[in-house]
Amino acid sequence: MEKKESDIESLFEPQSIAVVGASQDPRKLGYRVLENIVHGGYQNPVYPINPRGGAILGVPVFPELEAVDRCIDTAVIVIPAAFVFESIRSCAAKGVKHAVIITSGFAEVGNSEEEKKIASYARDHGVRILGPNIFGIYSAAASLNATFSTGVVTPGTIAIITQSGALGASMIGKTAVENMGVSAMVSVGNKADIDESDLLEYLLGQERTKVILMYIEGVRNGERLLGTLTTATRAKPVIVIKAGRSAKGAVAAASHTGSLAGSDEVFDDLMKQCGAIRAETINEAFKWCRFLSHNPLPKGDHTVIITNGGGIGVMCADACEKYGVPLYDDPAALGETYADVVPEFGSKKNPIDLTGQATTAAFDDALTAAGKSADTDAVIALACEVAVFDPENLSHLIEKHCREYKRNGKALAFSFVGGERMEHCIRTYSAQGYPVFGDVYEAVSCVGALYSYHRYLSRRPDEEVTADIDLARIDETVRGVLVDKRNFVLSDEAREIMDAARIPMPTGRIAHSLDEAIQHSEEIGFPVVMKVVS
Ligand code: ACO
Repeated sequence: MEKKESDIESLFEPQSIAVVGASQDPRKLGYRVLENIVHGGYQNPVYPINPRGGAILGVPVFPELEAVDRCIDTAVIVIPAAFVFESIRSCAAKGVKHAVIITSGFAEVGNSEEEKKIASYARDHGVRILGPNIFGIYSAAASLNATFSTGVVTPGTIAIITQSGALGASMIGKTAVENMGVSAMVSVGNKADIDESDLLEYLLGQERTKVILMYIEGVRNGERLLGTLTTATRAKPVIVIKAGRSAKGAVAAASHTGSLAGSDEVFDDLMKQCGAIRAETINEAFKWCRFLSHNPLPKGDHTVIITNGGGIGVMCADACEKYGVPLYDDPAALGETYADVVPEFGSKKNPIDLTGQATTAAFDDALTAAGKSADTDAVIALACEVAVFDPENLSHLIEKHCREYKRNGKALAFSFVGGERMEHCIRTYSAQGYPVFGDVYEAVSCVGALYSYHRYLSRRPDEEVTADIDLARIDETVRGVLVDKRNFVLSDEAREIMDAARIPMPTGRIAHSLDEAIQHSEEIGFPVVMKVVS
């Protein structure tokens, strides 16, 4: 069989697929994967592989890959670890482009040698490996659900790359509950070959994917990932959840997917440098994904809070500071914009306080004024349920202004607090993907994520990200060295430079006599180390 060149696109859009280890037994993963492919709407040929033959779910079974007389793009492997290498040999012989190895029992349990053997053989024979130790791949582009997840995946605009299979599988359920459409969901597991960078390179150019969410435990080829992320974030937002932040978490990650979690501070800084937005929880990441996929990026830094409650307005202002949402602060311009919509006893300063007497009609007027104002880039509308407030009219308000704001390129988030009627409204509209939240901090965190991405994109490409380094102090020290015509720095100068660069050093002093050395040592505290400064 003629061997075709392997590419990641065909992993997402295979022309044919085999399931090695397809089973008649509904309790086995091999049955579940086949069932999801067959019932998930995949239109191209499917080949179940099992020595027993027969048919499963009405699809004829082949005893081995080599018995299929057509090309196979992808083979999903769901057989015990001990037989996987042989199966990869068959894949290579058959010219399979991608082997999706669901099987566990490799590097994550110390069986690294077998995993390396498989990866090395596959690489030498042109088979790309996804996994092992994964739950599979879902790709809306091919209506392909080659996973053992339960439930139906709704096609949509959010791509998810996950190192944890179980988390990924449960995210499928969560996307359904949250009514979030998914463009792709890929589990990378032990990353014997294909990693996040390979997948990002494809997804960043894929039209249907608007936002990418990544769950990472450890990074192998960090430099490549940073490069790919930098390119990807220029095209679309990438939200990253990185687990293994704590010492205990890092140990757990090592035994889960064999990952080295690395320094969390370094990871955090690197993510900022390449424009990825880091979420702490799955809930937060999901909310951000949805908000970013529905809201236009703000054109500037003018966010306005509109509220009928002073207290919730204050909380919102606090949240804006926490999440880096820039509040518009021009009393003259705000006074003019809201002159006709804020009552005498209200406030036209940001937060705009319509007061407790505001009806939904008053909110409507204020949101219209903000929507028309060229000075406003984003609005956070907060409503507390008070006696004169009429939640039944909220539907009209939400639908109308979400539509209008989107058309005018402005971001909009709602947060409502109250009884059953408000809760019902939050449930109904957030389930439909509208930016309606119960918790004001949740609403602001979404706007904050949008701003974080906006700020990154607005940064000039040549603008360097610098740490808090006192360059002037370093220059001055180095100038002294040059004046002395030296080509080395003295130890106290080195210490000065390290301090200016905020690199922590053990406390140290220069002593000119034994007595001074003893005095310094007693002040510093023991044990101390002495070295000669010549
Ligand atoms: N070619 C074709 N079929 C084969 C081959 C082969 N070389 N070898 C075995 N088979 C058949 C078997 O005969 C069996 O079919 P049958 O039901 O008709 O007898 C079928 O393939 C499956 O083989 P079993 O030996 O029954 O294996 P089982 O299904 O019990 O387990 C599995 C296989 C699921 C891959 C298991 O080894 C495993 O790794 N489980 C964990 C998977 C996992 O969790 N992955 C990570 C996901 S992410 C997460 O955290 C959830």
